[in-house]
Amino acid sequence: MGLVDGYYGPVSDDQADRAVGQALDLGINLFDTADSYGSGEGERRLGHALTGRRDQVFLATKFGLLTEPGSDRVVDGRPGIVRSRAEDSLRRLGTDTIDLFQLHRIDPQVPVEDTVGAMAELVGEGKVRYVGLSEANPEQLRRAMLTHPVVSVQSEYSLFERGVEGGVLAGCVRFGYGLLAFAPLGKGLLTGKLQQVRDFDQGDLRSKLPRFGGEHLRRNQELVAALTASADQLSITTAQLALAWLLSRSPAVVPIPGSTSAAHLAENAAAADLDLPAEVISSIESAITAESVSGDRYPAGWRLPRG
Ligand SMILES: NC(=O)c1ccc[n+]([C@@H]2O[C@H](COP(=O)([O-])OP(=O)(O)OC[C@H]3O[C@@H](n4cnc5c(N)ncnc54)[C@H](OP(=O)(O)O)[C@@H]3O)[C@@H](O)[C@H]2O)c1
Repeated sequence: MGLVDGYYGPVSDDQADRAVGQALDLGINLFDTADSYGSGEGERRLGHALTGRRDQVFLATKFGLLTEPGSDRVVDGRPGIVRSRAEDSLRRLGTDTIDLFQLHRIDPQVPVEDTVGAMAELVGEGKVRYVGLSEANPEQLRRAMLTHPVVSVQSEYSLFERGVEGGVLAGCVRFGYGLLAFAPLGKGLLTGKLQQVRDFDQGDLRSKLPRFGGEHLRRNQELVAALTASADQLSITTAQLALAWLLSRSPAVVPIPGSTSAAHLAENAAAADLDLPAEVISSIESAITAESVSGDRYPAGWRLPRG
């Protein structure tokens, strides 16, 4: 997502190319994008950066979220649009097959079975290997599964966002599908590297998010300071501790951090080898609870359906 402008500041074609190349060189082999990131630009940049190396990766994309201003619908999961969305993504990604095709949000106006049924047709044709959902609740997942096997759910999951612990994570463990934990670094907050008081540029998504504003940001940074103290004791970084905590939750959890920096990519990749002592896990879980996080995840009035 951060490979295009409008999320975490401006990114050039070259920067995006370099970041993907560096990630590949580190052995990172799962890439997640969406047709909505930069209205297709994210897929185009990722496809370009993977030229000649497509067979080294598991390529995931998403469809269904509408970003055009003024549109009545925020999500479009109508079965009739699924094929053309996939074909557009294939073209931009420069590939014949999408490894994981995900519905970005469940369309409240369309039964999830209908959308998943149309996605399943693409599996039969070889355009898609696996079907996934994003931000689905346990009931939506159960219904989708009756239509076609769903191999993964993508949901926001981090020390700062624990909603999946209400049922989605247990479902993933029980039925054996993966939980792709998005924004695993709390959109940068859980790295401890955001400045104390920071006015985000208007081109930065975080300028609109409650957790990053004024008093909320200050309180949240106090929570992160406790994480940094634990990380220092282990001689690892705050970001590595945040990722290792996620990996300790279950083998079903696959964090998908975003980065455009070679140093951050290497740091994040190294977190996969960490095994946290039980006392560290319980200490950070007492320091940061779902209730202690200050500010909502999205501003009031955002029309994104919630899982
Ligand atoms: N399904 C959905 O609705 C949904 C929604 C949001 C995101 N996602 C997916 O999840 C992926 C990751 O989420 P995200 O990028 O929003 O959030 P994130 O991974 O929690 O945070 C990304 C931010 O953290 C910074 N960062 C990364 N590693 C760092 C490190 N070691 N030290 C300091 N800063 C670091 C990045 O900046 P640098 O570039 O400087 O490293 C960037 O500003 C996205 O790319 C997207 O594929 C899905």
